[in-house]
Amino acid sequence: MSQPVVSPSVLSVPHAPGRVSRCAEARAVVLSNTPVNGEYRLLTLDAPAEVLDCAPGQFFQLLCPVPEGEHPFLRRPMSIYGYDAEAGQLQFLYKIAGAGTRGLATLRAGDTLNVLGPLGQGFSMPADWQNLMLVARGVGLATLAPLARAAQQQGRKLTAICSARSPELAMSVDLFRSYGAEVIVVHDEDGSSSVDALRELIEGHIALGQVDAFYTCGSSRLLRLLQDLGQTHGIPGEIAMEQQMACGLGMCQACVRPFREGNEVVHRRVCREGPVFPISEAIA
Ligand code: FES
Repeated sequence: MSQPVVSPSVLSVPHAPGRVSRCAEARAVVLSNTPVNGEYRLLTLDAPAEVLDCAPGQFFQLLCPVPEGEHPFLRRPMSIYGYDAEAGQLQFLYKIAGAGTRGLATLRAGDTLNVLGPLGQGFSMPADWQNLMLVARGVGLATLAPLARAAQQQGRKLTAICSARSPELAMSVDLFRSYGAEVIVVHDEDGSSSVDALRELIEGHIALGQVDAFYTCGSSRLLRLLQDLGQTHGIPGEIAMEQQMACGLGMCQACVRPFREGNEVVHRRVCREGPVFPISEAIA
């Protein structure tokens, strides 16, 4: 598969408060690209060190192969599922949902993929957030996977609530367990994923003093629930926002969304000021 060959070109971008790291455009080589269940696929790349100075919550812009008869002309933003600088590997978990991801699904071992990243501001983990609760659904869980790994490395206690349409579609359950998390699967078939059921479940953990902070990704329904619980119980948290993007670099303004700042509504670029924001500031 032919891709433009790009020697790593490096930009300096701020990517976490107080920290400046490099973002590069580079050619990665596909190690595997396989289904993990009926809906999602896992892409594992052999990637150069220039693109592996990543933080949990950051994303890449992928120059996806063009499927026959389709004409996507933008890169596809995708959150990082896994990165390992020592092994030189980068992973993305995706669902085939459009031309870009249809193109990604055509990649075979040995093909190359042009990647640009890591981009954006990742999750923070202040020292007083010792008991972390991750709540997400579907591919939103993929974005939280690197955070779970970082939490384990820092000795934080982790509870992961994995929501799905059915138990067999629950993502990353074994991975979260391997990071020492207490994993709770909730799903639509038995109603355990409903807002009311989740509220009861989470309040039970709060009552036991097991939640210092929430982390979530994507879902407006979960965002509203966690905002409500956060306000009631004084629990902070962060969300990785999902948003259509064009440049991914802060230049085109295509990803601007409104946020609350005190009593004001302000506008921020999800690709540059985010994609991670305080839960209290996000507007569903
Ligand atoms: Fe261009 Fe965010 S996608 S500014």
